[in-house]
Amino acid sequence: MEHSDDCFLVPGPVRMGKPCLEALATPVMTARGPEFRDVMATLNSGLRNAFNLAPSKPVRGVQSWSGEDDYKVVVVSGSGTAAMEMVIANRFRSNDLVLVPTNGKFGERVAEMCKRFCNVKHLKYEWGRAFDLYELEQQLARGCYESLLICHNETSTGITQDAAAIAEMCSRHKTSFILDGITSVGGMPVHPEEWNAEAVVVGSQKCTAGPSGIAAIAFNSNFEERVHAIREQGDSNPNYYFDLVSAIKKGGDDQTPWTPAINLALGWGAALEVLSHETNEGRWKRCAHMAHGVRELFTDLGFELLADREQRSDTVTAIMYPEGIDDAWRTRLKDDYNTQVIGAQDHLKGKMFRVGSMGETPVAEMVEGCKRMIACFKSFGHELPEVSVETYFA
Ligand SMILES: Cc1ncc(COP(=O)(O)O)c(C=O)c1O
Repeated sequence: MEHSDDCFLVPGPVRMGKPCLEALATPVMTARGPEFRDVMATLNSGLRNAFNLAPSKPVRGVQSWSGEDDYKVVVVSGSGTAAMEMVIANRFRSNDLVLVPTNGKFGERVAEMCKRFCNVKHLKYEWGRAFDLYELEQQLARGCYESLLICHNETSTGITQDAAAIAEMCSRHKTSFILDGITSVGGMPVHPEEWNAEAVVVGSQKCTAGPSGIAAIAFNSNFEERVHAIREQGDSNPNYYFDLVSAIKKGGDDQTPWTPAINLALGWGAALEVLSHETNEGRWKRCAHMAHGVRELFTDLGFELLADREQRSDTVTAIMYPEGIDDAWRTRLKDDYNTQVIGAQDHLKGKMFRVGSMGETPVAEMVEGCKRMIACFKSFGHELPEVSVETYFA
């Protein structure tokens, strides 16, 4: 199927599908009545599927937030950062020490956030380079860390961390493992239970193609016990709106402590139903297929990719601009070719662009978008070999 509309190939917020947009337009309901509790039950159940957890019934009053595993899900009014802050602020005491290895902007943000609430050993690797697992092992062997936190899929540099290997080390060293899964959950394999992850965070607007401004946390019983113990000891970091104890108190009743983001919850619930119809495996496969095509195509065209080869992401690809090209290319791509990708952050600004392969983006849109990117590079006088774009996505 050909794609003639605009191409929106951004690593989130992604385009929302019709079911989500229609659900967002539902007339407002009360925040505490049975109708909204039904909405929460649908959302909780959809989230458990997206987090790759045991299923729950999308039915009010039957503990839709939990299932036959050790995990619960809690919905947060706010973007992914809010949910991550909620995890960190509630899970750690100010004198705890955590380990945060990073190789991009969002990992560094996790480290910065932790610094507001506890002590941090920040292992700062170059952007796009894989972590040195030997160094992580040595650090964990010191036995002084309460937790290790990572940004699982580093959207700023297009690298995915080896979560399974890090999880194994954390289990062996009895250190809790927490993940920012904001651009991995729903877009690539994430296994909270297998990895014994204490908490995983997802943002609606990325791989699950929901609206911006709502997020969720999946957490296990260790996490919950620590949060409660710290509160009972009177040792909590200050917080009120993002108090997990209040959120947990209401969660089992399909409710939230404060006025929920009612219509965002409706929209996200509908987007998660689309995901459950596609299936996690189906969506992971489509995202991986598109990312693989982008990687192979641009490599064959002579471009350099930022991330280490073995750990390139399946939801976002970071591609260096060739000599003589900068973000003026992106502006022309948008204005003249009706196609959007995103630029880089911090010291890489103007030096590369990022292509998102997440959410509900059809393969045909990716194919057309890549053709337009090539045409736009050529319009700058940049010579490229002739290729058949379709064959990369066949
Ligand atoms: C991996 C990752 N973590 C955190 C964030 C921040 O999330 P939000 O903007 O939803 O607060 C982003 C946003 O792009 C991200 O990609």
